[in-house]
Amino acid sequence: NMSLKGRDLLTLHDFTVEEVNLLLEEGARIKALQKAGIPHPYLQGKTLAMIFQKSSTRTRVSFEVAMFQLGGHALFLSPRDIQMGRGESVADTARALSRFVDGIMIRTFDQNEVEELATYATIPVINGLTDLTHPCQILADLMTVKEHKGTLSGLKLAYIGDGNNIAHSLMYGCAKVGMKVAIASPDGYKPNAKVVELAKQDALLTGTSIEVVSDPIEAVKNADVIVTDVWASMGQEEEQKIREKAFAAYQVNEELCSHAKPDFIFLHCLPAHRGEEVTAEIIDGSHSVVWDEAENRLHAQKAVLAMLV
Ligand code: CP
Ligand code: NVA
Repeated sequence: NMSLKGRDLLTLHDFTVEEVNLLLEEGARIKALQKAGIPHPYLQGKTLAMIFQKSSTRTRVSFEVAMFQLGGHALFLSPRDIQMGRGESVADTARALSRFVDGIMIRTFDQNEVEELATYATIPVINGLTDLTHPCQILADLMTVKEHKGTLSGLKLAYIGDGNNIAHSLMYGCAKVGMKVAIASPDGYKPNAKVVELAKQDALLTGTSIEVVSDPIEAVKNADVIVTDVWASMGQEEEQKIREKAFAAYQVNEELCSHAKPDFIFLHCLPAHRGEEVTAEIIDGSHSVVWDEAENRLHAQKAVLAMLV
């Protein structure tokens, strides 16, 4: 019987194949309980501190609702509210919060800040997005793919666009579940080489492969799942214009998708920019599962919280 109690969720790379599968199964089980109206108060009396250094709709609401539905409580802490916003160190914040709450979720810029928080906290730390990774999103994505395709292992996923946090976590997550990944990004925006290397090592364990190319059509060929994300992520707003030029040939539209399998599904972590990284025809069309994907943030995170905290 595998236990994840007390563990941090910093990246999906840190979890074994079995552990990732366990989290996905638990997410599906908790979702079924919720749909059947069966209470599941696994975290009665527990509190989660949620530190947000960036904006959020889905992550903030789904974590807060998740804690409520699990019988616990969540605290929303923006930089305007807490002393970390005035320069109190990450380490001291971790030490103080560890005396009050049972877990910390943090959304911030630098992955090292999340690692540091985890080093000094005596309670689980959950990564709610950094510039480098977004593990909770990809657990929800994998849940969604499994619901729609019935399986994960052996499927091909194509990610088109910026080699960012979503691209990185997709590589980590898909490698664990035996999904083939093709990333198509322009030069200068390719994914982090270290992340690609680690994901490739994991892919060997599950007999799959990770490839990074420049040609979006090559990536999309025979894909079961097509994913994209914004061209300018949070913190890159001033690069919007340069990025629009760099990514002009990387739009997910009907022409590009015609190279995928006829029954492909489309995922996007949201928020989306129609007319930029994806056309309205695709994101609002019959292949899109983005609202199931958004909903699954709640169920996947309830599994993470119930198992780690
Ligand atoms: N996908 C996602 O993390 O959305 P938010 O930025 O709204 O939390
Ligand atoms: N890549 C995006 C994801 C938002 C959920 C960003 O970091 O802004």
